[in-house]
Formats: sequence, structure tokens, C-alpha cells
Amino acid sequence: VTVSLLSADGQEIALPVERWMHDATTGEQDLLAEVRGPALDIGCGPGRHLVALNCRGVAALGIDTSPAAVALACRRGATALWRSVFDPLPGEGRWRTVLLLDGNIGIGGDPVALLRRVRRLLAPAGTVLAEVEPGVPTERLTVRLQRDGSPGPRFPWARVGDQALERLAVEGGLSVDERWSVEGRCFASLTS
Ligand SMILES: C[S@@+](CC[C@H](N)C(=O)[O-])C[C@H]1O[C@@H](n2cnc3c(N)ncnc32)[C@H](O)[C@@H]1O
Repeated sequence: VTVSLLSADGQEIALPVERWMHDATTGEQDLLAEVRGPALDIGCGPGRHLVALNCRGVAALGIDTSPAAVALACRRGATALWRSVFDPLPGEGRWRTVLLLDGNIGIGGDPVALLRRVRRLLAPAGTVLAEVEPGVPTERLTVRLQRDGSPGPRFPWARVGDQALERLAVEGGLSVDERWSVEGRCFASLTS
């Protein structure tokens, strides 16, 4: 199955669905080893981070707007809800770690609005672990999910490059604590 995001201006962004269906990678495991529970994985997909956290004894909940993704995550033994990050959520203001991995900082198409929402979900002194794209310009897009060449409905999305993170974090009421790169991917921890 080939899955990509197709933007209104003709860009095709390949999605690493293969990676999402497997176990967390070594780089992801290292990142997850730092996670303090309870943790909320926003846009959890089929739940590989949740499974890895559960194996470490860290309480974690996933949310995703795709019922198929939530069903897959639950089948893998994770706890996940079919819910948008912008819906009322359990434990608002009490999550010690919020995950925005795999480009999920682009959810909703407005990273500042998303980071403001995430800030309200965090416990005092809580941490956001986010992934950004190295060397990519930050842009708001309208995209369609394309599976094997057939496009689905349009939805807002954003790509966030590593250079814009500082500014977006500040506008979202957060600050960047640390940044690191592993397996060609770029991660950062943010706190309020
Ligand atoms: C880039 S994929 C992430 C894949 C996932 N992290 C994994 O490990 O498989 C983005 C995910 O965010 C979900 N999503 C999109 N909008 C959302 C929203 N408003 N709230 C929660 N999840 C959302 C999508 O359904 C999709 O599964």
C-alpha cells in the first residue's frame, strides 16, 4: 500500500506507513525512555509508541481521529480513544508528557493553535516531545490522503521545519528546551 499526502498545489508528501505499522525504532525507544507518565500520544495511529511505553510501565493514552487507527492500536493492547485533540479530553491539565511525533505538530494546519491547545493539556512543568522536519520550509497546507492513487477528502495540515520551531513554540506559550537528531529525524522537547 502506498500512502501519501497530496497538497492543493500539487506537492506529494510520502508517508512512512510501513514504520507506523512496526515496533518503535531504536531512536524512538531512546526518546520514549525519557517519557514521564501519564503520557498522551496525539495522532497515535496504530499505537507503536503506546505499546513501547506500556512495556516500560508508563501509563499512556492515545487519541486519533481515524477509527481504523484506533482499532489497530487497541488490538495491539494499547489504550486509545477515537477523539480529536481539539475535543474535550480526559485528564486536561494533568498530562506530564504529550507526544507530537511523526509530523503530528502539523495536525489541524495551525501549529500555534495546536501548541496552545497542548499547553492546556499539560500538567505544570509537563513536557511536549515534538518532531519537526529538517530543512523544510514551514507551511500551512490543505491536503488529501492518497491511498494507492485514490485521494480522500481534503483536510488542513502543516509542515513544520526545524528552523520555525522556536518561534512557533513561543507563540504557543512554550519554550524549546532541547533538540536532537537521530535516524535522520529531528526532535525537540518543549516546556511551558
Ligand atoms: C502522520 S500520522 C501519525 C502516525 C502515528 N503517530 C503512528 O505512529 O502511526 C497523523 C495521525 O494524526 C491523526 N489525526 C489527524 N488529525 C487529528 C486530530 N485533530 N486529533 C487527533 N489525531 C488526528 C491521523 O488520523 C493520523 O493517524
